[in-house]
Amino acid sequence: MASRSLQRELLGWLVVPLTAVVSFNVWTTYKNAAETANLITDRTLLASARVIAENIRENDGVLEAPIPPAALEMFASDQPDRVVYRVTTPRGQVIAGYPDVIAPPGQPVDLKPVYFETTFRDQPVHAVAIAQPIVSKQNPGNATVAVGQTLRAHDKLMTSLWLKALRDQVLLVAAAGLLGVFGLRRGLAPILRLRNDVMDRDPAELKPFATDTVQSELRPLVEALNEAFDRIQRQMATQRRFVANAAHQLRTPLALLKTQVSVGLRERDIGTKDEVLAAVDMSVDGMAHLSNQLLSLARAEQGSASLMKSEVDFGAVARDALEGLAQAALARNIDLGFESGEDGLAVWGHPTLLRELVVNLVDNALRYTPQGGSVTVGIGHEAGWVVLQVEDTGPGIPDGDREKVFERFFRGSEAGSEGTGLGLAIVREIVSSHDGHIVLANRRPPPGLSAQVRLPAHPPAHT
Ligand SMILES: Nc1ncnc2c1ncn2[C@@H]1O[C@H](COP(=O)(O)OP(=O)(O)OP(=O)(O)O)[C@@H](O)[C@H]1O
Ligand SMILES: [Mg+2]
Repeated sequence: MASRSLQRELLGWLVVPLTAVVSFNVWTTYKNAAETANLITDRTLLASARVIAENIRENDGVLEAPIPPAALEMFASDQPDRVVYRVTTPRGQVIAGYPDVIAPPGQPVDLKPVYFETTFRDQPVHAVAIAQPIVSKQNPGNATVAVGQTLRAHDKLMTSLWLKALRDQVLLVAAAGLLGVFGLRRGLAPILRLRNDVMDRDPAELKPFATDTVQSELRPLVEALNEAFDRIQRQMATQRRFVANAAHQLRTPLALLKTQVSVGLRERDIGTKDEVLAAVDMSVDGMAHLSNQLLSLARAEQGSASLMKSEVDFGAVARDALEGLAQAALARNIDLGFESGEDGLAVWGHPTLLRELVVNLVDNALRYTPQGGSVTVGIGHEAGWVVLQVEDTGPGIPDGDREKVFERFFRGSEAGSEGTGLGLAIVREIVSSHDGHIVLANRRPPPGLSAQVRLPAHPPAHT
């Protein structure tokens, strides 16, 4: 597809209608020029015919029509036009002029002039015929005077009238076009400047653009651009902090691993060597968990726009996640229960991320609940939402930490050595990319934490 140019489009909107208007104008100008030329020719023909008619006289009962020079002089022009005439008596006898050339289509009625077209030696002729009453006993009735002229002078007059008007119109269009181009250039200059500013920018430079140098219509665009820059800047800062934190989190267990390995190498006693190896195994597990959490967070962070979502049976996803955690619950002697009121708790989402959400919440509940406690997972419907509830009998979260636990790498003071502090950050990303909500609350009566996640039911409930 050809790229669209604002300049070309605006110019098109100016030139196309202008051309239509001018074409119409040229047409009316042509008509006007023709009318004016016709009017002038008609007047001259009529005046000439009248002069001839007034000179008709009777001499001894015979009608005569001497042609006065004035009748022909009024046609004087620089064009070699032929002027032809004919005078006929009431009985139809030609007494002056050319009998064969001028023949009006009919007799003039009521003394009104009749204008008509004819030819003289193959040249078109415009002519007039008038009736002249004769007061006489011998020749009663109306004599007819016809005068015609070839069309050279008429055509020249029309052309000169028309050309003058046409020249004015062309000049007008040219001036409008030039002014249009000039105006567009001036008007579009701020956009072009903005484009150059954007293109010339250093990729890392995210300073806002000045809004006072652009027209008011463009200001919202520049403001939106500045807002986008601001968002990117904040996102980049978060990203930088995250990378720094992640590097720090990786460095600590790596340093520990290094120490453990060098201790193991120095150790001679086979029993102690095994102990060190077991510790190394735990460290590697911890690092593997950290890498998995980092990957999950990166995946959840991609945002809702880039996720390939589909209809997911959230009940089935939760049951599947719990089956994977049953072993851990057994190892800690925790009673892990699942309550699902109904089938078909569908949401619109990403199955792997939704599974991760359940795993992280239940993993927390299992990990922070003392041995012998219980963890209950419930899932159900509530007014257009699918609700997941994870309740445990652990210590709960102190009020002051209720928001902080969602921050990346934040771990509670009692959290113990295992864990990365990323679980709830991942949960929050997943919930928000599925347009849901999460609430953590300590159980009443204590002890225990209740985590409640709400996701929009799919298809949306009709109320
Ligand atoms: N069910 C719970 N009971 C008590 N405290 C909890 C519970 N869930 C989370 N917390 C507190 O919130 C903190 C953050 O939890 P989060 O899941 O984000 O990280 P983590 O469990 O420490 O590490 P990870 O889940 O990445 O292995 C935990 O360190 C813990 O102090
Ligand atoms: Mg956790």
